Amino acid sequence: MRRATILTTTEALLNNPDEFEAAARYFDVTTSRCSCRRTLVIPRYSALPHYVDLVLDLEFNCNEYPSSPDAFRWIADFGYYDQLKEFTFQTWTPDDFYRCTHPGPFVVKGRTNSKKYNWDTHMFARTKQDAVRIGCMLSEDSLLASQSILYRKYEPLVTHEVGLNGLPFTNEYRLFYDQGEYLAGGFYWSESDRADSRGEVPAEAREFADQVAAVAKCHAHSFVIDVAEKAAGGWIMVEMNTFEQSGLSCIDPDAFYSALAKNC
Ligand SMILES: Nc1ncnc2c1ncn2[C@@H]1O[C@H](COP(=O)(O)OP(=O)(O)O)[C@@H](O)[C@H]1O
Ligand SMILES: [Mg+2]
Repeated sequence: MRRATILTTTEALLNNPDEFEAAARYFDVTTSRCSCRRTLVIPRYSALPHYVDLVLDLEFNCNEYPSSPDAFRWIADFGYYDQLKEFTFQTWTPDDFYRCTHPGPFVVKGRTNSKKYNWDTHMFARTKQDAVRIGCMLSEDSLLASQSILYRKYEPLVTHEVGLNGLPFTNEYRLFYDQGEYLAGGFYWSESDRADSRGEVPAEAREFADQVAAVAKCHAHSFVIDVAEKAAGGWIMVEMNTFEQSGLSCIDPDAFYSALAKNC
């Protein structure tokens, strides 16, 4: 096994001390792009906002970095929808929402981020009219304005608890894949009361995510899949996220970094 470098930021180090303590057991950890020449680099929370500049710096430093701007954008900009639509909620863009005949409810969000902590007022829309109103509100938000808005068919999900502003804490899991292989997974909602009592990823959730991964690995080297249990039965992909920017949710940091080190 060869030693690789985790490239992060000072802010991320301060915000995730447990994660980086575990990372340092298996990797060199640095916040400087200049200090890691000619190694395999794995960015964690350091890919945005200037992803292309990061890739150029890594190339300049003769680093090995197996992802690419195309693969990163395929995930971060929702490019995966065309290839993975059978696994996730039906989704409309502002360009085709006028053709949508579904009466609602909808979930409204940016291509990458949402205002989920304001679920009642800034995400859940009972009707098409509400959805358009929320879409306009989100377009004025400084973070979401540059992402363009998505309108998604609301699907009732198994819900354990309802948080502040109506946010449903659903039966949802996050699974990390590297080189198309499953690395580690865990309960999605680290802020919920149930976070400590939720254990392993259920077998059906894993099976479902593996089917998604089998398609995704033709387009990206590494990725993160969030899957939730539908109230009507079965599982659905909530979204795909980049490996570089996704938090660990309830995944044990040691289990994550030891599995990643073995894969390098
Ligand atoms: N179409 C949907 N139907 C039902 N619940 C949804 C839908 N989309 C998202 N959710 C719920 O809202 C949460 C936040 O949505 P998500 O797309 O993951 O936003 P973010 O990118 O901010 O994490 C999800 O974890 C899921 O529980
Ligand atoms: Mg999410």
